[in-house]
Amino acid sequence: MYGLVNKAIQDLISTQFGEDKWLEIKKLSNFEDDFFIGLQTYPDELTYTMVKNASKVLGADASVVMQAFGEYWILYTANEGYGDMLSLSGDTFTEFLNNLDMLHQRVNNIMPDLVAPQFSTRNETENSIQLEYRSKRAGLCPMVHGLLIGLCQRFKLSNYEVKQIVHKDAQNDCDVFSITWK
Ligand code: HEM
Repeated sequence: MYGLVNKAIQDLISTQFGEDKWLEIKKLSNFEDDFFIGLQTYPDELTYTMVKNASKVLGADASVVMQAFGEYWILYTANEGYGDMLSLSGDTFTEFLNNLDMLHQRVNNIMPDLVAPQFSTRNETENSIQLEYRSKRAGLCPMVHGLLIGLCQRFKLSNYEVKQIVHKDAQNDCDVFSITWK
């Protein structure tokens, strides 16, 4: 994955848990450079290892770390030069979800090696929607859960609830999330 993702993980850990915790996680993950380069790709394995070690050092489930990361990503990208891209992707929550693939296509223009996930919406009503998530990578559903919470907050939805209602398996070709609000 692009270094931007690893940078965001580093930023989340060092701002919310302290630099010492980050240095511990960095060491355990055998990452020896001084910093990540946002527009350079790193092996996915490094990102997964960092999450695993963050879970160990912080004493939280890996899924909790990933969900917190997803939530943080919405704020992080907005502050790291991708704010316009987020703003251009929709004025409402549902419009934004419908434009997620377009958003990653725009990202792809500056990150040519991006391996982006795919999203599509279904069963949209006035206060609910379902989001299908397809990825070449495994295990990232807790991150999607956190991303959706971050988006509910960005769009100031009230009483929102995010739930995974379908898990990808032999019968289902994708993961599906349901989001409701009042
Ligand atoms: C301007 C904002 C955004 C930027 C710059 C961005 C960029 C990226 C980048 C660089 C990756 C790593 C993939 C790779 O390097 O191959 C990624 C992955 C991902 N992005 Fe985005 N993204 C943005 C917004 C979003 C939003 C709003 C969502 C909400 C659902 C999202 C969902 C994901 C997911 C789930 C992945 C994990 C990869 C996978 O499932 O295979 N992204 N994105």
